[in-house]
Amino acid sequence: MLHNKKVLLGVTASIAAYKATYLVRLFIKAGAEVRVILTESAKDFVTPLTLSTLSKNPVYSEYFNGKTGGWNSHVELAEWADIFVIAPLSANTMAKMVQGICDNLLLATYLSARCPVFFAPAMDLEMYQKPIVQENIESLQMMGHILIPAGSGELASGLEGEGRMEEPENIIKQIEQYSIPDNSLKGKKILISAGPTREYLDPVRYISNHSSGKMGVSLAIEASRRGGEVTLVHGPIKLKTPPSVKAHPVVSADEMFEACMKYFPESDVIVMSAAVADYKPAQLAVSKIKKSDSDFSLALVKNRDILKTMGESKKEGQYLVGFALETENERENANKKLVSKKLDMIVLNSLKDEGAGFDHSTNKVTLIKRSGAMLELPLKSKSEVARDILNDICRTLI
Ligand code: PMT
Repeated sequence: MLHNKKVLLGVTASIAAYKATYLVRLFIKAGAEVRVILTESAKDFVTPLTLSTLSKNPVYSEYFNGKTGGWNSHVELAEWADIFVIAPLSANTMAKMVQGICDNLLLATYLSARCPVFFAPAMDLEMYQKPIVQENIESLQMMGHILIPAGSGELASGLEGEGRMEEPENIIKQIEQYSIPDNSLKGKKILISAGPTREYLDPVRYISNHSSGKMGVSLAIEASRRGGEVTLVHGPIKLKTPPSVKAHPVVSADEMFEACMKYFPESDVIVMSAAVADYKPAQLAVSKIKKSDSDFSLALVKNRDILKTMGESKKEGQYLVGFALETENERENANKKLVSKKLDMIVLNSLKDEGAGFDHSTNKVTLIKRSGAMLELPLKSKSEVARDILNDICRTLI
C-alpha cells in the first residue's frame, strides 16, 4: 500500500524519537519516499544526520535553508505529501495542533496539509492520562486525523502504563490498513443525526441532555472517508465538522425533525445517533419566567419521533439505523424500539457500562439486527465504533 507513496514524517521531542529511525527504514523498505521534519527540541533525541541518511533526503527543521540561501516552504512540503505521519507526537505539539498555533516548521506544514494526518502520541503515564491531553487526542480525531494509540508497558521514567509510542512495525501496519482505498459508500447518500436538542421554556432556559455529538461526528467522518455523500444534522455541539461533510445545525427537536425529513427521501443510509428530547415545554414564554414564592410546574408535550416517522415511510432499499440509550433491561428495550420504529438495525449503548454513552471518547455497543442477529462489541474509541457500525452496514448493503 505504501509503494511510491510520499510520506512526510514529523518528529517531535520525546524519548520515543529514536523509534522514528526504524519507522523511516520501514517506510523506505515498503517502497515509500520519505521526508522528515524535525522540531528543534527533537534534535536532542535523534540527530538530523541519522534521519537524513536513512531517508536519503535532507531533514527539515527551519524555514531558512542555510545551504541554498533559500527557504524551506511549509506549503511545498504539505502539498508534496500523500500522507503526514507525526510520530512521536509530544503533548506540547499536540496542544498546539489543536489550538492552531504555528510557531515552527512542523506546525506550519501541519496547518497547510490537505492529506490524511496520522498521529502517534508518546509521553509519560501521568501526562498521557491528564484530561487535557485526552481531550486534545479526541479533538484531533474529531478533526478527522487518525490516532495510532499509545501502547502500555514500561515507560522511560520507569513507570508502567499507557503512553509508549506504538512500535514502528504496528504503525506501518495501521497506516497500510487505513490506506486501502475504501469506496464502500461511493454513490450513496448518508444522513446522520448527532448531538442533543434544546427545548426552550423561556429565552434563557431549556431542557436538554449530555450528548456531545462525538458518536455522530465520528460516524459522519467515517462515512465520508468511505466515499459517501454525507449530511450531518446536529444539535448544539462544540465539535467542528470536516469540510467533506455537509453540516446542518439545528437547535430544537422540531427543527431536527424538519431538517432530517428534508434529506430523508433521497438518503440511502440513515443513522440516527442524536439524543432527541422526547418532550418540550407546552408553551414558550416570550420573556424570562420570574421566580415567585410558590412552586412552579412545567407542562410538557410530546415531540414528534423522527426515527419512527422515517420507519413508517421508509422506501425499499433505504437502510435505517437507530440508537438506543438504555439504563435497564437494555436488550429488551432496544428490541422494542427496533420493532416499533421499523428499523433495520439498532445500536444499543448502556449507561451502566463504564466509558459508554454520553460525552466519552469511547463507547461500548451491541448491534442488533431485524433478523435477530446480534454483535456485542468491546469498549472502543468512538471512531472505531463508527468503523464497526459502517462495516456492518456496508456488508449488508453489498
Ligand atoms: O453524542 P455523544 O456524547 O457521543 O453520545 C452518544 C449517544 C449516547 C447520544 C448515542 O450513542 C446514543 O445513544 N444516541 C441515542 C440517544 C437516545 O436518545 O436514545 P433513545 O433510546 O431515547 O432514542 C431511540 C432512537 O430514536 C434514537 O436513534 C433517537 O435518535 C431516535 N429519536 C428519539 C426521540 C425522537 N423524538 N426522535 C428520534 O428520532
